Formats: sequence, structure tokens, C-alpha cells
Amino acid sequence: MKPVGPIPSGFESLDGELAIGGRRVSELVAEAGATPLFVYSKALLDRRVAELRAALPARVGVNFAVKANPHPLVIAHMAPQVDGFDIASSGELKLCVAAGIDPRRISFAGPGKRDDELEAAIAAGVTLNCESEGEGMRALAIGARLGIAPRIAIRVNPSFVMTGSGMKMGGGAKQFGVDAEKVPDLARRMIAGGAEWRGLHIFTGSQTLSADAIIEAQANVLALAAELTEAIGHGCPKLNMGGGLGIPYFPGDTPVDLPRVGAALAERVASLPDVLADTELCIELGRYLVGEAGVYLCRVIDRKESHGVTFLVTDGGLHHQLAASGNFGTVVRRNYPSAIATRYGAEPTEEVNIVGCLCTPLDRLADNAMMPRAEVGDLVAVFCAGAYGASASPSAFLGHGPAAEILV
Ligand SMILES: Cc1ncc(COP(=O)(O)O)c(C=O)c1O
Repeated sequence: MKPVGPIPSGFESLDGELAIGGRRVSELVAEAGATPLFVYSKALLDRRVAELRAALPARVGVNFAVKANPHPLVIAHMAPQVDGFDIASSGELKLCVAAGIDPRRISFAGPGKRDDELEAAIAAGVTLNCESEGEGMRALAIGARLGIAPRIAIRVNPSFVMTGSGMKMGGGAKQFGVDAEKVPDLARRMIAGGAEWRGLHIFTGSQTLSADAIIEAQANVLALAAELTEAIGHGCPKLNMGGGLGIPYFPGDTPVDLPRVGAALAERVASLPDVLADTELCIELGRYLVGEAGVYLCRVIDRKESHGVTFLVTDGGLHHQLAASGNFGTVVRRNYPSAIATRYGAEPTEEVNIVGCLCTPLDRLADNAMMPRAEVGDLVAVFCAGAYGASASPSAFLGHGPAAEILV
């Protein structure tokens, strides 16, 4: 038997079924018209923003990293709730603009920005988090051609990383950002070249559950920002401190101690070095904002035995849930939180392998998991599906197509 990860709070059982936003899953599937289906909960999105606002010092803004969930309904729902939006492509820019977001609330990070993407962002007034000298020079040239001073911040590749993070985004040779020691010179050249100087972006890691690691990273980020700002000699209008707050996916994972992170940050912010006294501060969060608010629902299509093992074969799979299948940066496959959604809360009575419909042994949603007995037609829920599900899975693979997505 292999345990499944912890089901996030905020879900209930109604008439023996999983309910999301007070509505039974079978009702939601009927309304959407088909499985597989991603359901995103407005109430859970709102609850997470409220928790952050309560814990963080008022001076620190919250940005939504759109890459975690670029569904138009989610972007529109987050628009009035967060302070800024971080995008990683001109595709995400279009989605934000379509949702009516003021481009001056948007910053654009990511290596390999094409000229047409730089042009779209500069013309709209988006801040470019510049990833290299070459990109900076192209941005200046495009700005000069358009007659617009490009709004430019520099993404720093710091010498430190966020310890314990699932994905390290700094330290040593990286394709992200400008090595810290090269930042002051490049910033001065960008400013002299006509950029509207917007400050610094220091993103150190992702998916960290340790409050200590986050607190340490934030302290390091503030110290580095102060040092670089001193060396640049032009003030720092805005500092994007990165994010990195993770969510529990696997057995044994525990949530980030957010009040502790907030209290430590409040202390730091209350005694900022003079050089950052007027700097606008923000953190940048993707999965922490949206991950736990999403559930992936798929239907059991077949129930079969092979060599004594029971397989529940669903109409879902890794084409929508690459990370849950264990094929997105995972070394040892572990089970995401999952359940038989139409028998929610019933006693687990059998060990099953829940698999997808793709013709590959990689397509697994839960291995050797204890579940209540499920029949053909039952719905399976995979939790923590609000981030990097629909948008970070190969939905074209084998032609099954994308899943439906709804916000309730
Ligand atoms: C620059 C940047 N911003 C934001 C994120 C979002 O991270 P998460 O969804 O873990 O908060 C990432 C993830 O790698 C990133 O590289």
C-alpha cells in the first residue's frame, strides 16, 4: 500500500460525494458536459488571498505568477485581488490584457523573449524583468524605434538559492537573470540608454514548505537588493522578492507556517536599509495562490484485474496531470492527494492502481492506493490541481485533447 498525499482543507462530503463550493461533483460534471474536468473554487482562491493579506506586512504586495494557471476565468477572478501579475510570454500578456488588467501592473520575466514579445510588452507599458545584457540592449533598441522608454527591471541571478526548494532558480550558472556582480553596470547602462528604471527581480526558488528557508531567502534577497541598489546609485523603485511558498502534495508534507513567514518579513520591512526606504515591495506566487483551489475530475471507464492487481482505468491522465503522474521533475513517484469523488468519505476497502487512458505505463494517477470500492462510472478526484495542471501537461499527446475547466 502506498499512501496518498494530504487532501487540502475546504472540501466537504455532500450526500456521499465530494462537494466543491457547496456543489456535488456529479452536478458540476453534468453542468460542464463531460469529464475530464478541472474545477477551480472561487472561495478557496479568495481564502488564500485573505490568509496572505492577514499574514504579510501591508507594504508587501502580492503578485500572481500567471504561469501557474492562465485560465481566463482564473486571471479575471484574481485581477481585483492581487497587486500585480507576472507573465512569462506574450501569450500570457494577451490573456491578462483580455481580462482588462492594466499592463502597468504586469511584469514579464523569462529567458528567450523574442523581439515581437519585447515590442508588445514595451508598447503596452509592461515592465520587462531583463534576463541578460543582450535582451536589455534589444529592449532599448525597440524602445527607441517605438519612441517609448521601456520600463525595465533586472532579474538578478543571485549567488544563493532557497534551500529545500523543489526548483532552484538561482546560484551558480543559470539561464535565468543576470549574475549579481554584473547587475550594477548593466543597470547603469540601461538607465543611460533611456530605460525607465523599475528596479530588481530576485527569484530564488519554488515549492518550499520550510518557513525557515523562506525567511532566510527573503533576508538574503533584501540584503542583496540593498547592496545592488547602492552600487547602481539610482534607487530601486520596485523590488520583486520572488516567492517560493509551496503546497503539500505528498504524504508527510506539511503546510508552510505562513504567520511565521509574515512576522519575520514584517520585522525586516520595519528596519529596511535606507537605500530601500522608498522601494515598493512584492512577492510573486503561483501555486501557493491557486494550486489547492483546483480539483481534477475524471471518470472510471474500466475496472480490471491483472495478476491480482486492480486497475481503475479513467478517461483522464498525464495529458492533463503530468505532475501528478510523476513525470514532471520527480525522481521517485509518489501519490498526489486523490479520492473516489463519488464515494467521498466512505471507508477505503481495497488497494487499487488508478491509471489514465493513455497508451503508456507512465500514465498513473495513484499507485497501490487504498480507496472505497469504485465501479465503472464513478468519478476520481485528484487534488492540488489548480496549478501546473491543464497548462503544464501535454494535452495534444495521443489526441485525447484538453480537459474542460470551470470556476465555481
Ligand atoms: C520567475 C518565476 N516566477 C514565478 C514562478 C512560480 O512558482 P510557483 O508556482 O512555485 O509559485 C516561477 C516558477 O518556477 C518562476 O520561475
